[in-house]
Amino acid sequence: MGKIYNSITELIGHTPLVEFHRLEKALGLKGRIAGKLEYFNPAGSHKDRAALEIIEEAEKRGEISPKKTTLVEFTSGNMGIGIAAVAAAKGYKFKVGIQNGVSIERKKLLEAYGSELVNPPEDLIKGVFEKGIEAFNDVYQWMLDTTPDSWTTRQLSNPDNPGAHYRHTGPEIWEDTDGKVDIFVGGVGTGGSTHGVSKFLKEKNPSIKTVIAQPDKADVEHPVVQGVEDGGFHGIHAVHDENGLNPMAPTNFNDKVVDEYETVTYAETLRAIHLLAHYEGIFIGASSGASLAIAIKQALKDENKGKLIVPLLPDNGERYLSEDLQRVREDVEKKASF
Ligand SMILES: Cc1ncc(COP(=O)(O)O)c(C=O)c1O
Repeated sequence: MGKIYNSITELIGHTPLVEFHRLEKALGLKGRIAGKLEYFNPAGSHKDRAALEIIEEAEKRGEISPKKTTLVEFTSGNMGIGIAAVAAAKGYKFKVGIQNGVSIERKKLLEAYGSELVNPPEDLIKGVFEKGIEAFNDVYQWMLDTTPDSWTTRQLSNPDNPGAHYRHTGPEIWEDTDGKVDIFVGGVGTGGSTHGVSKFLKEKNPSIKTVIAQPDKADVEHPVVQGVEDGGFHGIHAVHDENGLNPMAPTNFNDKVVDEYETVTYAETLRAIHLLAHYEGIFIGASSGASLAIAIKQALKDENKGKLIVPLLPDNGERYLSEDLQRVREDVEKKASF
């Protein structure tokens, strides 16, 4: 029987879970690692899922429609690209607020999908870094005030962001592992993916462990190579320290579904990226590399012998070619712990 899809939106989700057998063997891992390859989503990341869920749930509530609504969001990353693609496929206009320093690939992708790019006033953006997460509301308000008939997707607090991963990504991992997943690894940007996946998995089996990959503070403060300039490793940030959850932790992140926070250096991140590319033919982005590095560290432990570890791998390395993510930097990688 033939199969013709009606829209790119039908291709979001159902991403493959792949076991990294050659990597396991090369590193002598005790645990097994199967990566969830989110770059198989049509616009290239796990954010396609959040974009679709946020838009379709708002449509169901009758809050937006392509004829009357312009969608607005403030994002320099994959969320903008996901919304841009879904908006185009559904006929919405999309206006995206970006910060200076957004990678050229991302700006060009947003342009390709027909989005309007704007720079919110500098003082509002500065407020976000000085006052914390609450100040995002000022940027959103500016975007709403300057755009007629607009509606904001509010990725940091919209419950349909974690909802997408609770209703889809988590169940996919559960089904594809026949319920045998032992450890889930993810990173926190908005917190949507780790919150949604972990909540679902723990409801199925409370003994499944969730580990959060946290960029090493020292590497973020003193970056030795590109890829750490946004205060984290491209999309993920440290949200937890010795004092607990910090004020920059987004509303969409729920630390009740987290068992461990593990620090990952940029050297480990790069080494994980290059090992996966060289042994498995899979070239992932920096946040994926960070989660894979933590998965490797977990898989090296005796206590995790035979356990199945699933890192969520949000996007691929092609999105960062201008930063030479593909280049093996032996001087940096020799500092990795595996
Ligand atoms: C590449 C990348 N990795 C990880 C994340 C974090 O995902 P989440 O927002 O679901 O926490 C993002 C976006 O925020 C991202 O763009």
